[in-house]
Amino acid sequence: MSRICVIGTGYVGLVTGACFADLGNTVVCLDVDETRINRLKSGIMPIYEPGLEQIVDQNVRHGRLSFTTDYPEALKNAEFAFIAVGTPSGVDGEADLQYVRQAAESIADLVEWPIIVVNKSTVPVGTGDWVAEVITRRRNGRPLDFNVVSNPEFLREGSAILDFMSPDRVVLGSLHREAAEKVARLYLSLRCPIMITDLRTAEMVKYASNAFLATRISFINEIANICEELGADVREVARGMGLDKRIGPSFLDAGLGWGGSCFPKDVKALAHMAVLHGTHPQLLQAVMDINRNQRRRVVVKLRRALGTLDQKVIGVLGLSFKPNTDDIREAPALEVIHLLENEGASVRAYDPQAMQAAASVLPRVRLCETAYEVAEGADGLLLATEWNEFKQLDFGIIRQTMRTPIIMDSRNLWDGEQLRAMGFTYFSIGRGSKTNGHTQG
Ligand SMILES: NC(=O)c1ccc[n+]([C@@H]2O[C@H](COP(=O)([O-])OP(=O)(O)OC[C@H]3O[C@@H](n4cnc5c(N)ncnc54)[C@H](O)[C@@H]3O)[C@@H](O)[C@H]2O)c1
Repeated sequence: MSRICVIGTGYVGLVTGACFADLGNTVVCLDVDETRINRLKSGIMPIYEPGLEQIVDQNVRHGRLSFTTDYPEALKNAEFAFIAVGTPSGVDGEADLQYVRQAAESIADLVEWPIIVVNKSTVPVGTGDWVAEVITRRRNGRPLDFNVVSNPEFLREGSAILDFMSPDRVVLGSLHREAAEKVARLYLSLRCPIMITDLRTAEMVKYASNAFLATRISFINEIANICEELGADVREVARGMGLDKRIGPSFLDAGLGWGGSCFPKDVKALAHMAVLHGTHPQLLQAVMDINRNQRRRVVVKLRRALGTLDQKVIGVLGLSFKPNTDDIREAPALEVIHLLENEGASVRAYDPQAMQAAASVLPRVRLCETAYEVAEGADGLLLATEWNEFKQLDFGIIRQTMRTPIIMDSRNLWDGEQLRAMGFTYFSIGRGSKTNGHTQG
């Protein structure tokens, strides 16, 4: 069993640390955020992730998992240092590597034994080489036996533990095969395909994967917009496409477009890298344009239905960028709310898990305690995130309490025919009228 230090205890670092501890390793998770670490020490999870609390609690009790803000304590005798810090977008869309640099420099300052530095953060192609340079420069001639391995993370928030424990694949990249093989051993018990490649290729696998998934979503959204005009139903179109084994059904849900802490910054960073190196990422640009437009389209539908959005009350259901997470980074709901507010609407909202996160970034939005409170007195009700609890709402109550019964179902979750029969004006995404070809949206 190995001794592992995980640097950064966000969605990726905390899940990685907890899961490696669960596989029998001794793991110290480190973060510079004191509040976060203090909470973790008291058993309070800093993020909402199904199953995380249980696995953390269990491994802390067995002495395999601990938390600290102290770099020397965290790195002490570590054989592996996993870097899992944030890599947000910089001003030009490039990935900001300042946190990765800090982590690499701390390793260089404190480690005096052989160590493998594993990059789990999503980093631009070439960062593995750069991390090695940062460490070597920082050592200033003092020798250190270290290797850098890229190990991009593919977990999804909301099913992160499952994704870590049963990954489709583990990708490892290094200039030193032996180092990559040592990291591979940490994953052997998961019995999944392990691919070992060079550093830059591993880094590129992550960007290419996220860009491809974002492309599928933008593709189906473009098809949805065409469906609306031509009187087809995008849900059925996607089902028909997805049954083709060459295509498959995933990431073909039309809606408000992609968001979250990864796709937006990763597609942007890939496009930025491409431009920087003289290529023209036309497809990536279109993928981003379609996504931006998708948010605007629902606002236009509401404006057209109401005549104006000025002084109208719009209720928004769901704030997190997808169900089963409290993460609101680049959530489509936030952008839609911003557009609604710009047109003079007053917005109220509810989310099952993201209310705390939302409070600090949505100062003008009235945050409600239930979906029904959101609907009360509203001129329009917009579904932004398809949480389970929104699937079976009592639309009888909602119909009675809304001021204007307009529904914008941006996730194609509800039964439009039933809602229209109840007296709602119902809009969805990519579902044109099947009978006469004119659009209902
Ligand atoms: N969130 C995801 O679903 C996901 C999935 C795959 C890959 N990734 C990638 O993994 C990386 C981490 O993402 P995240 O969502 O976990 O980020 P996050 O923002 O949730 O967490 C990052 C953590 O790193 C800490 N940190 C920053 N600088 C530090 C330093 N010098 N030393 C120690 N800790 C430091 C922060 O305090 C924070 O707690 C990113 O590159 C991201 O693109 C994320």
